[in-house]
Amino acid sequence: MYLASGIGKRFGGVRALDGARIELRPGSVHALLGENGAGKSTLVKILAGALPPDEGELLLNGAPVRFSTTRDAVRRGVAVVSQEPSLFPDLDVLANLFPACDLRRGGLLLDRKAMARKAGPVLDELELTRPPTTRVGELTLAERQLVEIARALLEDPAVLILDEPTSALQADAAARLLRILAALRSRQVAVAYVSHVLEEVVRLCDEVTVLRDGRNALSAVPMAELTLEKIVRAMVGDRPTAPAARPAPSLDAGTAGLRLRGVHVPGHLDGVDLEARQGEIVGLAGIAGAGQTAVLEVVCGLRIPSAGTLAYPGGGPRPRGLRQAIRAGVAVVPSDRKRLGLMLDKPLWENIAQVRTVALGRTGAWVRAKDLRERAAAATARLRIRASGPDQLAGRLSGGNQQKVVFAKWLEAAPGVVLLDDPTRGVDVAAKAEMHAIVRELAAEGRVVLLTSTDPAELAQVCDRVLVFRKGRVAAELAGERLTDHEILHLAHGANSE
Ligand SMILES: Nc1ncnc2c1ncn2[C@@H]1O[C@H](COP(=O)(O)OP(=O)(O)OP(=O)(O)O)[C@@H](O)[C@H]1O
Ligand SMILES: [Mg+2]
Repeated sequence: MYLASGIGKRFGGVRALDGARIELRPGSVHALLGENGAGKSTLVKILAGALPPDEGELLLNGAPVRFSTTRDAVRRGVAVVSQEPSLFPDLDVLANLFPACDLRRGGLLLDRKAMARKAGPVLDELELTRPPTTRVGELTLAERQLVEIARALLEDPAVLILDEPTSALQADAAARLLRILAALRSRQVAVAYVSHVLEEVVRLCDEVTVLRDGRNALSAVPMAELTLEKIVRAMVGDRPTAPAARPAPSLDAGTAGLRLRGVHVPGHLDGVDLEARQGEIVGLAGIAGAGQTAVLEVVCGLRIPSAGTLAYPGGGPRPRGLRQAIRAGVAVVPSDRKRLGLMLDKPLWENIAQVRTVALGRTGAWVRAKDLRERAAAATARLRIRASGPDQLAGRLSGGNQQKVVFAKWLEAAPGVVLLDDPTRGVDVAAKAEMHAIVRELAAEGRVVLLTSTDPAELAQVCDRVLVFRKGRVAAELAGERLTDHEILHLAHGANSE
């Protein structure tokens, strides 16, 4: 039993937690929910010894505890998989699974054979098929998350906290995690589970705590007494969350848009034809690495095809590199916000302004900082980015709020082609609906939108058409009544389209 009560935490002027409470019981999977910036990760960090609370107490099996580090917490049986990736990309899987201090038990380095023996069953259980000698930098985001989960499981914890473990996972990997959680439940592990995938939470968890503005809106309510609607209401209060209706397409079906013909990228794409008209939202679906992300990378100049042609709405040649692509009117919202999306050590307004400055390029006049700050403030309000103001450093925002900034900055560029790579990952329900409305507006204004998502329901809901990729090829196309999340999953996993 692990209880946190009366927890308060401030960051400068921001009150992240204010008397928060959560109680984790053995054999129970406890959902910790709330909007972006509600205080979930802060509470997780306090539970895991990564942050000291300003107020309140932690009781582990009835005894007060105060951890000075996360290692300290791990030694007492409290392990965490945190929201932000913490692996070393240059080391292989095995080396990442055993943190340095564990390698020297009794003054001896554990040899890699012993490590592999110990890790084997856990990696098998998680169905991570890559050899443990694979460099972590070569893994997909979903695979990296599995490695993080494996590392936590190897600690054999009594309390396991997962901060958005499935946000980057494909449906099959998520199903895998559900099996693991069932096993943990039967082993009497106390599990806390932070997620924005509420349908999954309802299926998976036994009880629910909801934070709103750092306070409890629900405390340990049994799932049987809740519905999805009740949970959403607890998260957002009385604010309306209904997405805006889709505006009618304003352009003729024939308007020239983006066209790919016979595009080959060795190892990634094998003869892809794709056409997206202006005003159209085209979804690209598939299991990780099936080609959908590679298409986005080709269109934005990050990958050079070995054969095939590309035509852009504005005419013009295929851009060589991201900068040229931006100048040519291509916008990219990447899923890996750490790598491509954000300058974490820069204030919010500079992040939002960055694209505009690049897009204007040489011909662009010097844009006044005051102007940019005002525009940033407007974007912040629309997407409900929870920040102390436009001067807050991007790195200090909560995970979902960082993703909103990445999204917001592309609204500044007035692009002709919008590439969205899993743009709502880790974003709460209300902001997700707002983003969907914005995507529809972008299309209605005549942009070409390509969208990938790890959530097939999102693709079915937002797109006009979805292309399902398999092994670097377009395996099927769905539209109209056939465009459902079920059908997308079915085809992505290799069923034939007929
Ligand atoms: N190191 C920090 N410095 C300043 N403010 C911070 C810091 N860490 C968190 N905050 C602020 O505390 C609040 C709560 O953040 P937290 O990360 O706990 O939210 P969250 O519920 O995990 O959100 P998300 O769903 O987006 O991950 C936010 O307003 C955030 O900006
Ligand atoms: Mg968080």
